[in-house]
Formats: sequence, C-alpha cells, structure tokens
Amino acid sequence: MTTQTPARPQLIDLHPPNADMQRLVHNGLQREPRQLPAWFLYDQEGSRLFDQICEQPEYSLTRTEISLLESSAADIARAIGSGVIVEFGAGSARKVGPLLEAMQPSAYVALDISADHLRQSMASLQAQHPCVPMLGICCDHSQLDALPDHPLIRGERRVGFFPGSSLGNFTRAEAIALLRRFRRLLDGGPLLLGLDQPKSRSRLEAAYNDAAGISAAFAHNLLQRLNNDLGADFNPDNFLYEAVWQETESRVRMALISEVNQTVSVGGEPWTFSLGQPLVTEYSVKYSAEMARELAKDASWHWRHRWHDPADDLSLHWLEAAD
Ligand code: AVJ
Repeated sequence: MTTQTPARPQLIDLHPPNADMQRLVHNGLQREPRQLPAWFLYDQEGSRLFDQICEQPEYSLTRTEISLLESSAADIARAIGSGVIVEFGAGSARKVGPLLEAMQPSAYVALDISADHLRQSMASLQAQHPCVPMLGICCDHSQLDALPDHPLIRGERRVGFFPGSSLGNFTRAEAIALLRRFRRLLDGGPLLLGLDQPKSRSRLEAAYNDAAGISAAFAHNLLQRLNNDLGADFNPDNFLYEAVWQETESRVRMALISEVNQTVSVGGEPWTFSLGQPLVTEYSVKYSAEMARELAKDASWHWRHRWHDPADDLSLHWLEAAD
C-alpha cells in the first residue's frame, strides 16, 4: 500500500549579503532626500509589524484586495489561465489562496525578502493546500535576473502575481524597470498586478499613520534593523514618523524626521542629520486606472482588463506579454 505524502515547501535563500546592504545604505543616505530601499523594512520584526498594519481599521487595502480576489478568482482564472503561479513579495502569503483554488496551478513559487517569514508563511499555506507543490525563494526580486532552474518551474507556463500595491514603493522609472524585469522572469506568461488607487487625503494619511501607532513602529523598526544588522547607532526616539499625501506625485510619502541635530554612525561612517531633516522610509504611489494602463504600456506590457472592488478603491490588472 502506498501512502500519499503531502508536498513539503522547499526554500532557496538568495538574500543579499550584509556587504551589499551596507553599500545600499551608503548610497541611500547620499540621496536627496535620504531614502533606503523599501525592502529594508522587512526583517523578521518588520514583517510581523506589517502584518499588524494590515489588520488596522484605517488600512483597508489588504482586506479589500482579499475580498476582491475571493469574489473574482474564478473569473480571473478563466481569463488568464493557469501554469505555475509566481508571487513577487509574498509576505505572509495570505492572498493567493483563492487563486490556488480557482487555477489549480502546477506549483506555487513565492519570492520574498524575509527568509524566516517566508519559511513560516509557506508552511502554513502548505497545510491549507497540501496538494500544491510549493517553492520559496528568498531574494530581492528587483535585482533578480532569472528564476532559479528548478523542476517545479522548468517548462511550465508562468503566471505572475504581484498584489498589495507593492509596486507603489517604486518611483515611475523604477516601476517600469521592475515590470520589464518581471516580463523577462515570467518568460511570456501573464501578470496579475494589484494596485491601490488615489483617494481622499484624510483616508490616505490615516491609513499610513494609524491611531494605534503600528505604522510608526514599522518605520522606526527600520532604524533598529540598521542597528542590529549593520552595527549602526540610531536612537529611534530622536526621529518622528510622518505620512503625507503628495497629491501632485499621487503618492504617500512616509518619513522619519530628525527631531534634533545629531550624528549617527552607520557602517563605521558618521552621518549628520539636522533638525527637521527627513529620512524617507518609503513611498506608496497610488495608480488610477488610467495611470496603470499608461504604466503597463510604457513597460511594454499589453493591458487587458481590470477587476475592482465595489467602491473602486483598488484594482487587479491583467497584463499580457503579447497581444
Ligand atoms: C506593501 C508597499 C503595499 O504601501 O501600502 C503600509 C506598505 N507601509 N503601511 C503600502 C506600507 C506602511 C504597503 N506596501
């Protein structure tokens, strides 16, 4: 008698080494305004805080996108077809469930920057979907040139999934470069792209500065991470968190503002912060349907369709590599 052993998630660790992080911090602190890559926010503690943000009443993005996926998965699967699902920046992997059910993919491949977090999310997702083979790849997907050669990927049609409006972290030029990169990584397969849309200043500023202070803690944790991993000596109490809707740029700017004149040592180098000087922790660009179509076109994707929630707060856009 043979027993069916449930699939076990595999993990490939391609996390950038500390030396690369050191260089990225140096470059980021030389920018005007100072800004680090958004993925620095997601160490183990940052990933945990981000999950908590998603549960705050002011931050509806995650809940809205999950219900949109639940209500549209069958329709989406009919439209874009199946293959191996490749999710960029999977985090807790709480969104792909409806697609796994509707698409019945040959495998699920999750990319994320936090190895520990990815290991945990894959284990719990695997328990819910024991028959879907799963592979986790810990990496900075904005620098990845090819998916690793792996039996779960080889020869399969690739269906990209990039939800959560994570593309909003990138400037327009970076977003175009990333979408072009995904086109290569997906090798002719489609992309399902989740983007949040512009809304009122009051709603957006509250979403990124919740009353419970989780968004602020998430940003402050970036400084703690630099202290832990790169031997910096930031005093997080010397920085005040703010989130501002910059309407002309259609983005929320999240920053830590220096509350004093101070010198901080990062990687053995002294960096002076003057009173009021911002360190941008991330941008969150909001794309109207029109902006999204324009962006897809500029990144050489063919825009096909969008699904949106009843209030039209956010969209899932279907992009194809060819007509
Ligand atoms: C993961 C980039 C989509 O911009 O809404 C939420 C990150 N930061 N609250 C967003 C975030 C603070 C989030 N993304």
